Amino acid sequence: MAEARIVIDRDFQVGPVPRRLFGSFVEHMGRCVYTGIYEPAHPSADEHGFRTDVLELVKEMGPTVVRYPGGNFVSGYRWEDGVGPKDRRPNRLDGAWHTIEPNTFGLHEFVEWAKKADVEVMEAINLGTRGVEEARALVEYANHPRGTYWSDMRRANGAQEPFGIKLWCLGNELDGPWQIGHKTADEYGRLAQETAKAMKLVDRDIELVAVGSSNRQMPTFGDWEHTVLKHTYEEVDYISMHAYYYEDNGDAASFLAEAVDMDAFIDGVVATIDAVKAAGKHRKQVNISFDEWNVWYQRGLDGEDQPHNVAKAGWRVAPRVIEDTYSVTDAVVVGTLLHSLLRHGDRVTIANQAQLVNVIAPIRAEENGPAWRQTSFWPFARMSKLATGEILHLKVDSTQTPTEKFGDVDLVDAAATWDEETGKLALFLANRSLSEDAEISLDLRGLAVSGISSAELLTVPEGGDRHTANTLHHREAVGLTPLTSIGVEDGVVRGSLPALSWAAIQLDVDRV
Ligand code: AHR
Repeated sequence: MAEARIVIDRDFQVGPVPRRLFGSFVEHMGRCVYTGIYEPAHPSADEHGFRTDVLELVKEMGPTVVRYPGGNFVSGYRWEDGVGPKDRRPNRLDGAWHTIEPNTFGLHEFVEWAKKADVEVMEAINLGTRGVEEARALVEYANHPRGTYWSDMRRANGAQEPFGIKLWCLGNELDGPWQIGHKTADEYGRLAQETAKAMKLVDRDIELVAVGSSNRQMPTFGDWEHTVLKHTYEEVDYISMHAYYYEDNGDAASFLAEAVDMDAFIDGVVATIDAVKAAGKHRKQVNISFDEWNVWYQRGLDGEDQPHNVAKAGWRVAPRVIEDTYSVTDAVVVGTLLHSLLRHGDRVTIANQAQLVNVIAPIRAEENGPAWRQTSFWPFARMSKLATGEILHLKVDSTQTPTEKFGDVDLVDAAATWDEETGKLALFLANRSLSEDAEISLDLRGLAVSGISSAELLTVPEGGDRHTANTLHHREAVGLTPLTSIGVEDGVVRGSLPALSWAAIQLDVDRV
């Protein structure tokens, strides 16, 4: 019988839950902006052209911070094209995604949308084709109160008050040969250092993210972080991580264990940051912004990589690009990736699931049609809501399961938080087995449980299989159902977790 005993001790704390861990990403790519969050002709559009059906789902999902406007897109973007009267904004060719960018949605629209969605803005600047001058102009435009060239232009464009954007990314994936303006680590490190300095001279309260590796498989991974941080350590607050190479290519056991890879990837970047800190005798602490992560089926059904297909189709506005449909299996993996991020919440203090709508996204929306939640919506929505207070360090003693990629791994993956103020303990669990239920028991130390406040489950629905997904015609095939197989007996929580499932359990607890 598969089983897991989980020891939870209130004194074994990783640190406070960083609320920015539940971030998302809106790029001018495919249909994320146009016909995603913005569609003036849609029946649900408000006076700004924002789709309120999508906005409602975003609020329900609960991202805390949203990165914008790219992604690869930002490395060829002129932010000035997206401000001022819409009828004077130019159409531009976006080389990153082979798209015509109409610029009818830009900085002002995004800031307004973010207010409505109740999220913090995380703005990326172009360090591919542009540099210090354009970056400091943008900070002045966005954050300086008034009385200067750029701040008065913002006011003339309708925003009297500064946007007050705190969080800025110094470019995007500049280690990647595909990136417009690709650079060596030294070239990027020096440019990022000088740009950071100039931006902070305009607004010393901003926080800056240096570009890390595009993924762990990059040949320069490790050296890139080391060199970039040697140049920028004193000027930046975070280094980025990106990871998308999680996909179900038939080896389901390895796919379900990808959080093992994410754990190791994070540990490697933490080690590199701390090595540079030690060697440079720095006192401040740089942390990690994991600002692009998700499951992504990089190859379309015809076996060609999806962005390549876009280029073949010619120049268009808002084409369908990488609109992956996520299954039950994908949702369980997304849940475990969120566990990994939470377990590392002392060092990964920002994370953005990429992207928010349509493009590898938890929310889908059809032009002039409905919007709906993908399977992957649910783990994010529940963790963003329930993970509050302190992250706890768990001891999980689980049945092992073999994988091709990682050897034996825990069959049950878990993460937990304890909020002393509300008296709630949130426990997130995944059963990686495709066929076996797992018996769970909790050994709570320093806490007494008085009841289960909520317990919800995502698993294969009746009549479905592990590939079942929510689609245009079956928009609610997969959702959360009550987890009834878990209970409290003589103060002990135990029960069973169905095969291939993810669960969110909230317990009422008291300190003892
Ligand atoms: O999110 C899709 C793309 O993936 C982003 O534009 C890029 O940064 C990454 O490679």
